[in-house]
Amino acid sequence: MKERPLIYLDNAATSWPKPPGVMEAMERAMREAAANPGRGSHEMAVKASRVLFEGRKMLARLFKIANPNDIAFMLNTTHALNQAIQGLLAPGDHVVTTAMEHNSVRRPLEALKRKLGIQVTYVPVGADGILKPNDVRHAITPATKLVAVTHSSNLLGTIAPIGDIGAVTRTAGVPLLVDAAQSAGVLEIDVEGMNIDLLAFPGHKGLMGPQGTGGLYIRPDLELEPLMQGGTGSRSESPEQPSTRPDRYEAGTPNTIGIAGLTEGVRFVIGETVQRVHAQELSLTRELMAGLSEIPGVRLLGPGPEIERTAIVAFTVDGVDPSETAFLLDRQFGIAVRSGFHCTPLGHESAGTTETGAVRASPGYFSQQSDIVSLISAVKEIGETLRA
Ligand code: ALA
Repeated sequence: MKERPLIYLDNAATSWPKPPGVMEAMERAMREAAANPGRGSHEMAVKASRVLFEGRKMLARLFKIANPNDIAFMLNTTHALNQAIQGLLAPGDHVVTTAMEHNSVRRPLEALKRKLGIQVTYVPVGADGILKPNDVRHAITPATKLVAVTHSSNLLGTIAPIGDIGAVTRTAGVPLLVDAAQSAGVLEIDVEGMNIDLLAFPGHKGLMGPQGTGGLYIRPDLELEPLMQGGTGSRSESPEQPSTRPDRYEAGTPNTIGIAGLTEGVRFVIGETVQRVHAQELSLTRELMAGLSEIPGVRLLGPGPEIERTAIVAFTVDGVDPSETAFLLDRQFGIAVRSGFHCTPLGHESAGTTETGAVRASPGYFSQQSDIVSLISAVKEIGETLRA
């Protein structure tokens, strides 16, 4: 039987395929630079250290970070968010966050509520799904020690005005943590210009690297308690975690091979430009929204196509369970999407889909117009068949 080509529309979970060069860079690193970086002075260990340094430099260029050593490599965004949140907060602190957050922000905050007695305010988003900087301003109190905001919702694709929120937090003197899980590589991020103090980002989504990569930018004068202590290859005689960056936040052997791939992914994004990536993905997204909205019984979540968003379209089909829609899309049509609650019960509350969940399709930079046409026609067929 002829293999049917996969139509991959689950890029918000992880991007696929990866750009040319990513796999090759990983293979090359495995052949030539797979020693332990920072743990020896032999030639291969030095090559491995260089892989990490190149990766940091490339990321610093993309996010306009002055010193690459202010970026610590992490396993993923969740790891980075936990380092930021658990490393910063103390008993009695208050945190302002939003009603669009992913569990990777909500759960660490809720855990610290129980463990340390911190207080958390979830600022609601407007009817258009977008966070208002003024609402953030009003939620800040003298006890507020952190404002944590998702740059783009992983359910609705809505974009928070980070620059304006950064102006609010800088005036209030409160650190701003940005969850860039859906925005890194597809939206402009300028940590200086936007007053971002902590930037948590994945390597395996918009930056087009492999899974198991990501990072946290930490403003130079902001000191965090490391999430983990352990070997760094530096100041080995000391029982204390070193204060130098990035070692302070990078205990244990890193994912050198993954970072070699991530570096190529970021190089690709810089070459294409973030603006071009976003424009292309937005155009496919709007096409998808237009097609789905014409199907009887299909309801799109979030604001209309006139509002700019990242490449995420969540929808329901009247009378059809979202998990069934996703199952049929996969089995009958070879189309990969994600259904359920997308690790964001808060987002579903804001969207009014707490009872049902939704189907989420997320095109990527390598998606084709024909993929969008196939999805629209498959959803139409599923709706017609199951409601008949
Ligand atoms: N946070 C990822 C998603 O939204 C995994 O699917």
